[in-house]
Amino acid sequence: MSHLLWNLYAVCYERIVRLLPYQEMLDEVASALEVAPGMRVLEAGCGTGALAERLARACPQIDYAGVDMSEAMLARARRRRAWPPTFAFTAGNLDDFLTGQVDRYDRIASVNVIWTLPDPRNTLARMTAGLRPGGRMVHATPRFAFRAWVVVWRDLRGQKGWRRLRALLGLPVLLCAGLLNLLLVLQSALAARAPRAGQRWHEDGLVALVRDAGARPQVVRPCYAGQALLLVADRPAPTSGGTG
Ligand SMILES: C[S@@+](CC[C@H](N)C(=O)[O-])C[C@H]1O[C@@H](n2cnc3c(N)ncnc32)[C@H](O)[C@@H]1O
Repeated sequence: MSHLLWNLYAVCYERIVRLLPYQEMLDEVASALEVAPGMRVLEAGCGTGALAERLARACPQIDYAGVDMSEAMLARARRRRAWPPTFAFTAGNLDDFLTGQVDRYDRIASVNVIWTLPDPRNTLARMTAGLRPGGRMVHATPRFAFRAWVVVWRDLRGQKGWRRLRALLGLPVLLCAGLLNLLLVLQSALAARAPRAGQRWHEDGLVALVRDAGARPQVVRPCYAGQALLLVADRPAPTSGGTG
């Protein structure tokens, strides 16, 4: 069921990604990742490849893996541009993909994915294990009492000239996307396997979730016109066990 909804969502998803606040959020996530040549980077739930595109522009020498359960999202990601040879997109469920991956990635990112997970603590724990010690994860996820109209209004105000007209003409597509989003919220609630699934977050709740998953939160702040939270965490390096 969730595959079907995500595949449908893919049809109108680019309209959401084009919103100015979404673009700003992607820029913030890309910049917080601080990627450098040779790093192994995993993007969990890469969708149509909008973050990957930024990373490819900023540092094409990274080893990027984008994973997503929706073939329709991935098809759009693959077509988005000519990717550097070290960029790969894989279809699959995150929990399966992360199984057995330990100490592998320098960076892990997700944008608007945590709220969809049936057991976010478990999936985040797998991500933490997949990070090498000292590695960093960056997540953006809708905040508690998310207000879509704030994002749309900010977009309309920020667009100039014919772009504003195009944004106005695109409102019906956004409405369809909003209705699909409601179905996805419902579906996520039904598929929940853990108490904190399908949730939108307050800062302290998100910090506690990531800490419970074994990572060490460093920064949490609003993004996406104040409608999402951006969290940066690292995987603590093991302390030397010797007592002298
Ligand atoms: C709201 S979209 C965000 C896409 C992309 N991160 C972006 O910001 O443009 C969520 C994405 O996560 C994917 N997804 C959700 N749960 C997943 C899971 N358990 N395993 C793999 N992909 C998943 C969906 O297919 C969808 O493409």
